[in-house]
Amino acid sequence: MTLQQSDAFVFFGATGDLAYKKIFPSLQAMVKRGNLNVPVIGVARAAKNLDELRARARDSLERRGEFDPTAFAKLSGLLRYVRGDNGDPATYQSLRKELGGAEQPAYYLAIPPTMFGTVVEQLGKSGCAKGARVVIEKPFGRDLASARDLNKILLGAFDEKAIFRIDHYLGKRPVERMVFFRFTNTFVEPFWNRHYVESVQMTMAEDFGVRGRGAFYDETGTIRDVIQNHLFQVLCNLAMESPVRTDSESIRDEKVKILKAFSPLDEKSVVRGQFRGYRQEKGVAPGSNVETFAALRLEVSSWRWEGVPFYIRAGKCLPVTCTEIVLRLRQPPTVYRGFHLKQNYFRFRVSPEVMVAFGTNVLAPGATVAESHEMLGVRPTAADEMDAYERVLGDAMAGDATLFARQDYVEEAWRIVDPVLKAGTRVYEYEPNTWGPREVERVTPPGGWHNPLTP
Ligand code: BG6
Repeated sequence: MTLQQSDAFVFFGATGDLAYKKIFPSLQAMVKRGNLNVPVIGVARAAKNLDELRARARDSLERRGEFDPTAFAKLSGLLRYVRGDNGDPATYQSLRKELGGAEQPAYYLAIPPTMFGTVVEQLGKSGCAKGARVVIEKPFGRDLASARDLNKILLGAFDEKAIFRIDHYLGKRPVERMVFFRFTNTFVEPFWNRHYVESVQMTMAEDFGVRGRGAFYDETGTIRDVIQNHLFQVLCNLAMESPVRTDSESIRDEKVKILKAFSPLDEKSVVRGQFRGYRQEKGVAPGSNVETFAALRLEVSSWRWEGVPFYIRAGKCLPVTCTEIVLRLRQPPTVYRGFHLKQNYFRFRVSPEVMVAFGTNVLAPGATVAESHEMLGVRPTAADEMDAYERVLGDAMAGDATLFARQDYVEEAWRIVDPVLKAGTRVYEYEPNTWGPREVERVTPPGGWHNPLTP
């Protein structure tokens, strides 16, 4: 089936933070690559007119050092502006006019989730939703119940095939490459299971705080911000079975299947932390109990993984910025006792660079103990590599849903984290620039957490 390319791109929240940080750079990159040649319509209130919106777009690019005069001139030419309130029917009449003859626009909602319902309803009532696609930011809902409600609202105006739930982590090449790596290399499959893997751990560390997004973060917390979505997507890529085909639904079917095999989290399997100083951030409640760090232990019941614990750890103000996965392998039966053999492992780094490493035992010359030796494979990021946002926006406009979360997936992901979100477990303070609160010991893989990028 050939999917039709969207013939207009409309973004709500055109003067907001997300548009400034992510969307303008992606739009310019798409223009530069020759992938964007349709009207680009910003909807907002704050800018007085189109010139002001253009100035904001230019500022966003200059600030990142990404301003490209030729591409920007072209983007400026495509840019239109509809000024109005998201809840005002008049905004949608103006939008209709601005859309002209466009029959399959893509609407990107770069607005607070509380506004999604209003905009979708208005798009439906005004006839703007006809033939269109809608692109929604994560987190999709706050819990299982609200995700279902939000979906009902969306399905009131759009078909499931026209709904694109963004998870920009899926737009990161290494995340997708992980599946390719697993299912195109013969040597991987034999050890990728409960017989050889003792535990799986995943760390998403960021060495910065909430970067002026205090108000958003205090409504969200680490589990909703990055675990329920980004890291669960990585988890699926690690744990799922081979898709039977490479089309979007075959791949998304496998992700849902493996998520179904994970049990809901219980309180004992989670440690939440908050970095010292978080409560003084702008937009954060003085007595906030929102976590900026979380470590979890997940249990999975499947033919491949039964009995293998999966650990996830994510946090702000940690010592480094890096996302990495480590599969620790069981010790082999061996006659080399007394050699202090290290455990073999497989390490996959998603960012800042793509890296695959195997931890092996070698005997140093003359030595009587084994040394752990890493066999490394690093692939530097290509200079013209697409940014994750550019990729997912382009895919949504092309109608390719592979890199988007399907509703059943979103619901399964909420099912797993819902009990701990509701339980409101204690939040332990940790010092910035450390690996989280001391209490994390309670949720630590056998053999310990592997701290990436640290000697
Ligand atoms: C976003 C989260 O979705 O992902 C942020 O809201 C987080 O808190 C970011 O920092 C990480 O993504 P990236 O692409 O910058 O690694």
